Amino acid sequence: MKMTKSRQDILNYNILADALDGRPFRYYEQVGSTNDLARDWQMANPYIPTGTVVIANSQIGGRGRLAREWITPANQAIAMSVILRINLEPKHMHRITMMAGLAVAETVRDVLPDTLADEVSLKWPNDVMIGSKKLAGILVEAIWYGNDLQAVVLGIGANVTVDFADTPLADIATSLHEHTVEPVIRLDLITRILERLDMWEARLQTDILRDTWREWLNTLGKSVRMKTELRGIIEGVAEDVDADGALLIRTTDGQIERVTAGEILAN
Ligand code: BTN
Repeated sequence: MKMTKSRQDILNYNILADALDGRPFRYYEQVGSTNDLARDWQMANPYIPTGTVVIANSQIGGRGRLAREWITPANQAIAMSVILRINLEPKHMHRITMMAGLAVAETVRDVLPDTLADEVSLKWPNDVMIGSKKLAGILVEAIWYGNDLQAVVLGIGANVTVDFADTPLADIATSLHEHTVEPVIRLDLITRILERLDMWEARLQTDILRDTWREWLNTLGKSVRMKTELRGIIEGVAEDVDADGALLIRTTDGQIERVTAGEILAN
């Protein structure tokens, strides 16, 4: 009987060059943060093509939203930062948040067994969840030239085989391998996410982007406790999102609070 050799989950420059099909990229075994390297690359080359990507096998200074650290152990996760050069009014920056959340959530759904597809969702604004645990996070950072948006760095981190057991994150974080039968190959995930990003980037100004993102949100209709920087804790029911992606929370006194940035502590 002929044995088929299972593919190894290896990232290196040559494998990526083959798979990325001419897309400009840089690959590193270890970096501080891919978002920082992407920013430096764009600033040194302002006309770099949109979709250029920085990928690392591990990060030692990975950054999350709200000034948190983000852990990317070697060989176990995806850490990449995509440089987007798009004509977007600054007030529409939330559309990048939407497209990134959608691209990652749809990719995750596609690689999971069909029986788990309904478990994948987005926690507002764009944490990618499997059930109640976080699988992937997205950090959107703008590069300004005066008042003009020069580029956006879209950092994506996803846990593939990270083992969170016996760590403080055990109850809130998960990895893809806990949910799949076949091993997940990071190269496949990377190419699928990039394809989805291209697809949504072409639909950035459409209503379908916001409508599809809204359908993925697991937050709507639930009681939430939200930590905001400017207004402290806001508690109420997450009723909806508006056209700009802000979360509309109905508080106990019946008022609607509009939140553009913050963290849902419980829902
Ligand atoms: C979050 O959910 O808090 C966002 C996490 C974003 C992590 C990614 S990993 C690749 C890129 N480089 C970073 O330093 N952060 C982002």
